[in-house]
Amino acid sequence: MGKEIYRLLEEKPEITTEEIENAMTFALEQVGDNLGTFTYQFKRAFTENSFYTPTENVNWTTGFWTGQIWLAWEWAMKRGKEDLAETLKRAGDIQIDSFLDRIDNKKEVDHHDMGFLYSPSCVAGYKLTGNLKGREAAVKAADQLITRFHPVGQFIQAWGPMDQPENYRFIIDCLLNLPLLYWASEETGDGKYRDIAEKHIHTAIANVIREDYSTWHTFFMNMETGEPDHGATCQGYRDGSAWARGQAWGVYGTAMAYRYTGRKEYIEDFKHVTGYFLEHLPSDLVPYWDLEFGEGSGEPRDSSSASIAACGMLEMAKYMEPEDREYYKSVARKILKSVVGGYAVKSLKESNGLVLHSTYSKKSPYNTCTPEGVDECNIWGDYFYMEALTRLAGGWNPYW
Ligand code: GLY
Repeated sequence: MGKEIYRLLEEKPEITTEEIENAMTFALEQVGDNLGTFTYQFKRAFTENSFYTPTENVNWTTGFWTGQIWLAWEWAMKRGKEDLAETLKRAGDIQIDSFLDRIDNKKEVDHHDMGFLYSPSCVAGYKLTGNLKGREAAVKAADQLITRFHPVGQFIQAWGPMDQPENYRFIIDCLLNLPLLYWASEETGDGKYRDIAEKHIHTAIANVIREDYSTWHTFFMNMETGEPDHGATCQGYRDGSAWARGQAWGVYGTAMAYRYTGRKEYIEDFKHVTGYFLEHLPSDLVPYWDLEFGEGSGEPRDSSSASIAACGMLEMAKYMEPEDREYYKSVARKILKSVVGGYAVKSLKESNGLVLHSTYSKKSPYNTCTPEGVDECNIWGDYFYMEALTRLAGGWNPYW
């Protein structure tokens, strides 16, 4: 849509307080209703025909289900729903036990997604209720995450064995794994986690943003010299396009980079990356799965990107001058209005998730992903939808 989006944005309505309240009332009902199946087991990463099935605590995504439980717990406590809050806390505690077991026994933790797994589950449970097993598990997860740091290239490797040039790369998503490291330094008094996080942020932001402010999904470094090598995609349409969720991770990731480092240049990076995201939205403000696609393309949306980017705008707004602050808050409110109105699940019969029309990984002739979860709910889309609504309601202390 290009610059035209800014004129359209002026006309768009913001979500109201009543709509936020109603959307979260439904989310609480849905999360509460799900606990029968999903207390000792977790939701899979994405739905099939709009319904999640159970899984053990595997994959990079289970923390988002526990995170929904903690967000629901916070709302239940504030609304005086004590019985529901008690049930939610019990489920959250049971899941923290599972996360402690997972890290103790190193079950599928040989990758960088320790923050996605342990921040919304264990850090949240510890911050909100003082759950000490949550603290223990999250510190152990931070220890695991820093084993993936490459001192020569100054970054945390995403996936795969650590000694192969073809795996010597980071991905933009990792910016959201780093708050776990800042938390671990704060909690333990040991600065090693923070030092590594800062080095990764610097390497990532210096390389992942292109000249037009679109972003690379994944970036390879030279294993011998540690110098930047080349960008590529895994889940985007093609190497040179902007994968919608990668750009959304960039919006939230640059906001987090500023929050934790206080480096002013990251505010400018945030504005540029967010500008590119906005200028490539269709008229209802919910992106297609790759920003290359627009209205009439027939391609599926990724509604999760809309909620992730809105969370990033609301985080960054906290540190901005009044005019910018009000602008980004207003844009987030307009995006959420569209997500609630056009994408949110409206009845328990329709789905056991919260937001329809997300895309995990769509295969193209040019990318390397495994196709899954196309035009379905996904677990992080549901989580960031609840987080965005909770942020909009005000007074939220992030789990990140
Ligand atoms: N972090 C993987 C994804 O966003 O699909």
